[in-house]
Amino acid sequence: MQQYKYNIQCDTLTPEQEFYQESYVFLEGAIIEVLSRLEIIRKYKLTKGLNDPIEHCKARIKSAESMKEKLKRKELSVTVSNALTQIFDAAGIRIICTFLDDIYWIVDMLKNQEDFEVIEEKDYIRNPKPNGYRSYHLILKVPLHLEDHIQNVYCELQIRTIAMDCWASLEHQMKYKKDITCPDMITAELKRCADEMASTDLNFQTILDMIKVNAMKL
Ligand code: GTP
Ligand code: MG
Repeated sequence: MQQYKYNIQCDTLTPEQEFYQESYVFLEGAIIEVLSRLEIIRKYKLTKGLNDPIEHCKARIKSAESMKEKLKRKELSVTVSNALTQIFDAAGIRIICTFLDDIYWIVDMLKNQEDFEVIEEKDYIRNPKPNGYRSYHLILKVPLHLEDHIQNVYCELQIRTIAMDCWASLEHQMKYKKDITCPDMITAELKRCADEMASTDLNFQTILDMIKVNAMKL
């Protein structure tokens, strides 16, 4: 029997399509569902003449390799079912905001979506990690309306400012550098950078608030 490929632009299945099988489309679907919800709300805000709270979004499906490693680390058997029901970040979205207040606006808006259920919530902005990492994490249960049933899919959202995203990307890259000779000093320096960037985020928010107050006076 001829095998139909899901992605018509690919001649062969990717390792992710091979691992997640039919469920790959559920993961893509959850990402599309959340991103299009955000897009509509953004556009509506813009038509009302309000600020766009989102700078940009990124999304990914967890690689087969990293999912298998995570399942083993959590002492779960390596199955698609476990990947979709026991691990909550097979589908992941990063929402990059310009200002700090935008993060909390996005969080409240997502929590108000009647069909999205919040499974887990972590505020690493008010409670940063010891290394300086900051972001707001939400795990959402997203319903996909299929032909004859509703398929619920978990999706991890990381909501952060441009500065937080910049720091997390650099820190992530550095963690994998093998030639680091002075880790304690580097860890302390990275933490200092994270704190400085957090302070800059606060300054940007204050500047924006001052601009708004001045605009109201005109
Ligand atoms: P899991 O069981 O892996 O989900 O662990 P957890 O729930 O304790 O993870 P957490 O929610 O704290 O973080 C999940 C994701 O946030 C990671 O996969 C990273 O993408 C990001 N993250 C968390 N901590 C850090 C950090 O210190 N540095 C960077 N660069 N990213 C982080
Ligand atoms: Mg987690």
